[in-house]
Amino acid sequence: MPQREKLYEGKAKILYSTENPDILLTVYKDDATAFNAQKRGQIPGKGEINCQITAALFEWLASEGIPTHYLDCPQPNQMRVKAVSIVPLEVVVRNIAAGSLCRQTGLPEGKVLSSPLVDYYYKSDELGDPLLTRKRIFLLNIITPDKLEEIESMALKINEKLSYFFTQCDITLVDFKLEFGIDSQQNILLADEISPDTCRLWDNKQTDSTARIMDKDRFRKDLGQVEFAYQQVQQRVLTQLNK
Ligand code: TMP
Repeated sequence: MPQREKLYEGKAKILYSTENPDILLTVYKDDATAFNAQKRGQIPGKGEINCQITAALFEWLASEGIPTHYLDCPQPNQMRVKAVSIVPLEVVVRNIAAGSLCRQTGLPEGKVLSSPLVDYYYKSDELGDPLLTRKRIFLLNIITPDKLEEIESMALKINEKLSYFFTQCDITLVDFKLEFGIDSQQNILLADEISPDTCRLWDNKQTDSTARIMDKDRFRKDLGQVEFAYQQVQQRVLTQLNK
């Protein structure tokens, strides 16, 4: 058994050290939370599914020129990643109005945005992940303007690539959340995960506005068939990548 120490336990993953200080181990959990953990539950098999979807997408994005922290998966629900310092921002890219954008602006759900919208939230459970402005990001010294530019342009590039990829899977990428890390050479790497927990994904094969939901909104809104929806996403993503 390799030597490991629990460094941090989040809502969906646990982070461990490894014998190599440049490498960390992420264990994906079946636990699901929503609304800043006011709602809690389990989605059987989610840890493995999200780990495998993230691994496949990160590997593919790397081949498309997007640097990520992903290394490999020693077990189906475990991922080895490069150690990075996580930028405390949740970077949300939106193509279609849904969720908090509709609640906060009155835009109707499903309205296609004329261009992708990038929103920044402060990664702070205590504060409830509030929406930030650029000026607040600099006020809090979260990151320099140069690095924020780099993150925004990476997020938009990832959106273009993923939107096209999911279209080929008969899925619409409505919106999604990214996190970035900075390595010891000051490079920005895509980090965390890309999975049905962190994306809104609508099935193009379904016309019904509830039946088409393939992501964590099924858990948030108690729509049922959560595990089945996640399995469908995994199957389509892996098939598209010939895995
Ligand atoms: P929102 O509509 O609630 O702001 O969510 C936008 C996207 O971000 C959606 O795809 C879900 C994802 N998301 C997370 O990954 N983690 C979170 O804590 C929240 C609130 C949203």
